[in-house]
Amino acid sequence: MESFYITTAIDYVNGSPHLGHAYEKVLTDVIARFRRMMGDRVHFLTGVDEHGQKVQASAKKRGIPPQQFCDEVSAEFQALLPRLNITNDDFIRTTEERHKRVVRSVLQQLFDKGEIYMAEYQGFYSTRQEQFLQNKDRNADGTWPEIFGEVTEITEANYFFKLRHYQEWLVDFLNTHEDFIFPRYRQKQVLEFLKEPLNDLCISRPKERLEWGIPLPFDENYVTYVWFDALLNYYSAVADKPGVWPANWHVIGKDILVPPHAVYWPIMLHAAGLALPRGIIAHGWWLQSGSKMSKSTGNALNPLDLVTEFGADAFRYFLIREMNVGQDSDFTREQFLVRYNSELANNLGNLVNRTLNMTTRFSAGVLPAPEVADELERNLRELWDKTRDEFVPLCEGFQFHTALERVMFFLTETNAYIEKRAPWKLGKSAEAKDQALLRTSLATMAEALRLAVAVVQHVIPDASERINAVLGYKPGEIWRDELTWGTRLTGLKVEPALVLFPRPAPAEKIPAKP
Ligand code: MSP
Repeated sequence: MESFYITTAIDYVNGSPHLGHAYEKVLTDVIARFRRMMGDRVHFLTGVDEHGQKVQASAKKRGIPPQQFCDEVSAEFQALLPRLNITNDDFIRTTEERHKRVVRSVLQQLFDKGEIYMAEYQGFYSTRQEQFLQNKDRNADGTWPEIFGEVTEITEANYFFKLRHYQEWLVDFLNTHEDFIFPRYRQKQVLEFLKEPLNDLCISRPKERLEWGIPLPFDENYVTYVWFDALLNYYSAVADKPGVWPANWHVIGKDILVPPHAVYWPIMLHAAGLALPRGIIAHGWWLQSGSKMSKSTGNALNPLDLVTEFGADAFRYFLIREMNVGQDSDFTREQFLVRYNSELANNLGNLVNRTLNMTTRFSAGVLPAPEVADELERNLRELWDKTRDEFVPLCEGFQFHTALERVMFFLTETNAYIEKRAPWKLGKSAEAKDQALLRTSLATMAEALRLAVAVVQHVIPDASERINAVLGYKPGEIWRDELTWGTRLTGLKVEPALVLFPRPAPAEKIPAKP
C-alpha cells in the first residue's frame, strides 16, 4: 500500500471562509478520495494560519485577545469541513503546541548550522502580504500594486535566512524535476523568477512591532515571520508520524506559489535536511465578474449558502466540473443552475428515477439478468470500457473536469439507450423476445448506473452512497474490480424511488438580470 500525504494551504483566520477556500478543500478532498479508491494509504491535512499582523490587528479591532479571536474564526473554518463532506485526517492550527515546538526546533537547527544571521534591514513592507518589498515590485509609475495594500518604509535589525545561497541548487532541482509544479507552465514562471538574484529571507519580526507569533528560540525579542511559521505546518503536523513525510502534493492557489511555496519552502526543507514533497498543485482563482473573489474586495460568496440551498454534492460537483485545475473560472449562479439542472437533475437524476421506476413496475422491484446483447447493448458497453480506460489517467493527472465530462456523456448515452429500447413499450408486449429485451434493458440501465456511480463517488459521495443503497448494492473492497461491466446487480431488490437533486423553484431557473 502506497502512502499518500496531501495538504491544503492553511487559511488566514482574519475573515470568514469563502468560496475560494471551500474550493481548495473540495479539490484536495477529491484527490484524497480518488487515491483511497486507488488503494493508497492517504493522510489528508488542512488547517488554519493563525499568527501575524493581520490577525493581531483584527483581534485588536474587536477588542479581544488574539487567541480568543483565533478560536472563534478557526471554529468557523473547521465547521465548514463536515458541511462540505471533507475527509481530512487532521486539522492543524499554527497556535498549537505541536506546531510551535517543531517551528522552534527547525529554527534552532538552522541557526546552529549558520543558515540564519542577524542584519539591519531598511526597506518597504506590505502588511497585507506580510512581506518585504523591493523596488522591482513597484508599478511602472512608481506606485505599489494594489495587492500589497498599504506599504510603509521601515528600518530594523532582523534575522535572515540564507536563501540566496541555495538559489542555484533550486534552479538545478527544478530543471531535473520538471513536473514538480502542476500545471507545468507554472514551473517556467518560477524559473523565470529565479533569473533575478534572490534576497535572503527576513524570518523575524521584532516583538515591539508584532507580538502575535512564535518567539525565535535563539532570541526571545523576536517572533517568527508568518510565512516561515505557516509553511512548516505541513511538516509539524506529521513530524511524530513515521512514514508520512514527505508530502506527495501541496494544493495551493496560484497567488501563493511564488515565492513562498516554490522558492522559500523547498529551500527551507533542503537546508534543514528534510525530504522535498513530490510536488505542488497550484490551482486558479474563482472570480466574480472577472476579479478575484476575496474578503478584501468584498465580493466573496459564502459557500455555506450554496450548500444549504443545493446540498454538498451539487456544490462539490459544480466546483470540480467547472474548473480546469490551474485555470481561473468565473462563478455565476446561472452557470451553477445550468449544470445542476442538466447534468445532476436531468442526466443522473433521471437515470436513477427510470431505473427504480421501471424495475418496480416491470419486474416487481427485482433487477433481472441481462439476456440479449444486441447492437444497442454492445455499443453502450463499449462506450463504458472507453470511459473507464480514460477515467483513471485523467484523474491521476488532476483532469477531473474532463473525467466528469466523459462520465456525463456516458450517462447521456445511457438515457438515449433507454429511449431507443423504450421498456415502457416492451412491457406492453407478451412476446417472449420483447420480454427478454425488457429484462435486458432493466439490467443494462442499472449496471450503467452502478458503474457511473463508481466513478463519481469521489466528487458526489453522498449521492453515490444513496444510489448504491436504493439499488441494494454494496460495492466490494477493491475499487478497480468494480469497474468491469457485469451482472453484480442481478437479483437485487431496489427501492421504488429516490429524490436526489430536486429542481430549484421555477422562478429561480432564470435569474433576473440585475
Ligand atoms: N495563510 C496563507 C497560506 C499559508 S500556506 C502555508 C494564505 N491564506 S488565505 O486564506 O489567503 O488563502 C488560503 C488559500 O485559499 C490559498 O491557497 C489561496 O490561493 C486560496 N484562495 C483564496 N481566494 C481564492 C479564490 N478566489 N479562488 C480560489 N482560491 C483562492 O494565503
